[in-house]
Amino acid sequence: MISILVAIAKNGVIGKDNDLPWHYPSDLKYFKLVTTGHTVVMGRNTFESIINRNGRPLPNRKNVVVTRNKNFMYDGVEVVNEFIKYLEQDHKEEIFIIGGSEIFKYSIPYADRLYITHINKEYPGDVFMPEIDMSLYELISKRDEGELSYCVYERKSK
Ligand SMILES: NC(=O)c1ccc[n+]([C@@H]2O[C@H](COP(=O)([O-])OP(=O)(O)OC[C@H]3O[C@@H](n4cnc5c(N)ncnc54)[C@H](OP(=O)(O)O)[C@@H]3O)[C@@H](O)[C@H]2O)c1
Repeated sequence: MISILVAIAKNGVIGKDNDLPWHYPSDLKYFKLVTTGHTVVMGRNTFESIINRNGRPLPNRKNVVVTRNKNFMYDGVEVVNEFIKYLEQDHKEEIFIIGGSEIFKYSIPYADRLYITHINKEYPGDVFMPEIDMSLYELISKRDEGELSYCVYERKSK
């Protein structure tokens, strides 16, 4: 199963200067809770932003980095060059696509579940969430906390 996990501002912004434009400790906690013990898949830019922030890949998770660079290597990280082939594999366990925008764009058609933290505030930024046809999904859970709304959507059965 392929899941997308993302925090999106009211104006569609998800990133600024290859970082998150905001700091919500509760959202980081949620991210950790949902993804720990699982596979997290990210684009090379998002991976670099995590390394800049934390100095290491995300602990206690299998880190998969998507890049077209065939020479890319990093300790403790699995590298994927052929992203569409990877998405089309039969993923029996839930894998989490954690961004950024370019990686989401390719993943959206394959996403069975969406974990979206809606931020009820506009932020300036330079990276936006690609459009998702939400009529294909149904809301299965929602929790509001201040200006954040943690929602989970599942693809409607055909
Ligand atoms: N709000 C959120 O929840 C959230 C989540 C994640 C990230 N972000 C933000 O999003 C921004 C980064 O997003 P981004 O769109 O610039 O970059 P990205 O999606 O993280 O990474 C883009 C890179 O991924 C590789 N790539 C993309 N498509 C590929 C394909 N089909 N096959 C193989 N490799 C592929 C390429 O790497 P190479 O150039 O190495 O080939 C490309 O340069 C940052 O600001 C970050 O903080 C926000």
